[in-house]
Parts: sequence; structure tokens; C-alpha cells
Amino acid sequence: MNFKEINPSPRTLMCPGPVDADPRVLRAMSAPILGQFDPEFLDLMSETMEMARQVFQTKNEQTYTVDTTSRGGLETVLTGAICPGDKVLIPAYGRFGYLLSEILERCGAEITLLERPWGTVFDPEEVEAELKKGGYKAVAIIHGETSTSMMQPLEEIGRMCKEYGALFIVDAVATLGGAEVKVDEWGISACVSGTQKCISAPSGSALITYNKEIEDIILSRKKVEKGIRTAEDEDTFMPHIPSNYLDLAQLQDYWGPRHLNHHTEATSMQYAVHEALRCIVTEGLENRFARHSLNDKALTAGLNAMGIKIFGDIAHKMPVVTAIEIPEGVDGKKVRSELLDYFGIEIATSFGPLDGKIWRIGNMGYSSQRRNILLTLGALEAVLKENGVKVPSGDAVAAALEVYKNV
Ligand SMILES: Cc1ncc(COP(=O)(O)O)c(C=O)c1O
Repeated sequence: MNFKEINPSPRTLMCPGPVDADPRVLRAMSAPILGQFDPEFLDLMSETMEMARQVFQTKNEQTYTVDTTSRGGLETVLTGAICPGDKVLIPAYGRFGYLLSEILERCGAEITLLERPWGTVFDPEEVEAELKKGGYKAVAIIHGETSTSMMQPLEEIGRMCKEYGALFIVDAVATLGGAEVKVDEWGISACVSGTQKCISAPSGSALITYNKEIEDIILSRKKVEKGIRTAEDEDTFMPHIPSNYLDLAQLQDYWGPRHLNHHTEATSMQYAVHEALRCIVTEGLENRFARHSLNDKALTAGLNAMGIKIFGDIAHKMPVVTAIEIPEGVDGKKVRSELLDYFGIEIATSFGPLDGKIWRIGNMGYSSQRRNILLTLGALEAVLKENGVKVPSGDAVAAALEVYKNV
């Protein structure tokens, strides 16, 4: 039997992740393997930590990666920081807010869910009204809710968390590297991101950062494996972190000066993260945000010119994801598969109440390029026409080009 060589068809990934990896990242991944304690590899890890601090806009010592996807990064941080019985407030406004509650339930947390219709965000006062009731150990929230394309302003909620003595744990999986995420300035205690969205590497690593307060909780729950512990590794009295693989207390010892042996590091993925972060800091955060924002404006102008309705509270739309309403009577799945078949472009639908009702177009990382925006608008126009939707010919691309000309 002949098995297929890996030779994927050319694609332009305009969904909200995974998106196109920067070719420099893919090249870095093909470098020869280094041992995980090779001094060259340890140097590379230190550089990754420093670049990740710049991208998270934090001074947190504990800023590194976990070999898992973003969901695993969330689980790692929540499992370490939240003990059974801790009260956690989750303002949920889409699928990923509910994911936080799913993970936290399994941590044994006492959860209060605040809910909002999909396509809206919270007024910070709604969060404050709940915090005022007291007793909350933490607030956990999504920054960019990719299921709806909404972006929750965080600064005010961060200030409230400080005032009411709650930790502030944020999922910036979809925004880090594409929109402003100011961990220190916004009072974020722990923040988690992935690699397959605005960071533009493959999926498979989670970027995390957490402050001293969270580190103290984690250390109070530390338990080093029997086979590698030394006399200084005393057991703690708090309930131990109920995962060995996702145990931040041991992971931070691998990333720190002790370089304690834990799992075998995914070195090729580390090359990817290092190169992706290097590309970001070389481009410069401000330039990078400006690029995403310009491409977002052009995409929005094109969609408006086509007469397509943008979904949700536009004032709070993510600059890196745009959700649009599927026109009446159109088979959303068919349109997406024609975009893929005819043009090699992938866009997404959504989940739960929005499944089949909206399409989501990503504008993330390496995929956020003028040519991709123009190509997507032109392709969408053609496919919509094929599917009987009346759209003006050429107006979408012209409107987007006008945005680029007026920079
Ligand atoms: C906002 C948000 N959080 C978490 C996740 C889960 O990430 P992963 O699939 O990398 O585990 C996603 C994935 O799309 C996401 O968009």
C-alpha cells in the first residue's frame, strides 16, 4: 500500500485559528534537535521568556510556555491557582467563557456564572455588582471571545479585582500578538495565550505568565516527584496540584535556574515559539497592532460595501476576528466549502446558538496581510453570487483598496 507523502494543498487560513504560520517559524522547526539541558537550548529558553515578557507587556519572572494547546494552558494555570472550594466569578459571553467554567468545575471551584447574550460584552459595573457580594478568590474571563468576535475591555475589571482582593485570570488566547494585552498595567494576575492565532506558529504550545501572588499559591501546593526530589523539597500542606503533567510548581523549576527534570521538552515546538516571538518583537508591538487594525478596517469596509451585515456589538468587535451574518436562505457550509475548493481560503462558522448563523473571518498574525484581505473579499463576492446572493460587482475590493490608499 502506498501511503501519502505530506504535501498539503496551498491554503490561506482566514479563520480564527489556526492561521498561517510565519514561514520563518516553519523553517526554524526543521532545525536539528538539541537536548533539553543543552546549554544552547537553555539559552534559547531564557530568550523565549524575555521575549514573551515583552509581548505580554509584563515584568513577571514566571513567563514561559507549557507543552499543550491553549486550553491546556488555561487548565494548567487554573488548576495551579485555584484550590477546591475557592469562589470564582466567570463573566461568560460566548463559548470560551463556558470553557473556563468547565475547567474550573473540575478543579472543585465554587463557580458563579454571569452570562450575557452572545455578541455583547459586559459593562464593568455588572462585574462589580457581583464582586461586591464578597468572598471571590478570582475572576476568570476571556479577552477576545472568538466564538462571537467580541473583545471585553479589561482595564476597569482589573482595577475592580484589585479593589475587592480577587485574582484576575485572563484568556488572551486570540488577542496576544494582534491586539493590545497589557498584563501589568491592566492588573492581570495570570494570562494565557496560544501559538496558533496571532502568534503565527502551529498549535501545540501555550504561553503563560503569572505574578508573585499566583506563584506563592502554586509554591504552597508544591510536591516534587519522589524519584527526583532532594532534601530541600519538603512537602507542603495545601492540597497538592492535582496534575503531574500540568504542575506549574514543577514546570517553573524546569524553566528556572534549577532546571529540574520534568517531561521531555518539545524542542522543535520551542524553536517555533522562539522564532514566532522574535518575529513579533522585531516587527514591534505597535507596528503589529497597527497592521492588524488597518487590515481589519479594510475588511470591514469591503464587507459593508458588499452589503453583508457584521454581527454583534460593533463597538466591541475584535480587530482580529470579524463575524458576519449568513444571508437568509444561503447554505453557510456550502459557501465555506466553495471558498476552500475554488480559492483555497478557509473561513469558519461558530458554535452553539451561532452555529450556521454566522461566518467568522480571521485576520491574525501572518494571515493578516493586505493581499489576503483583498483575496478573501473578492472570493467571497464570487461565491456569494454563485449562491444566488445579490452583491454589487467589485465594490468590496474597491472599498478595501480605498482604505489602504488613504493610510
Ligand atoms: C478564546 C479561546 N480560548 C481558548 C481556546 C482553546 O484553544 P486550543 O484549541 O488551542 O486548546 C480557543 C480556541 O479557539 C479560543 O479561541
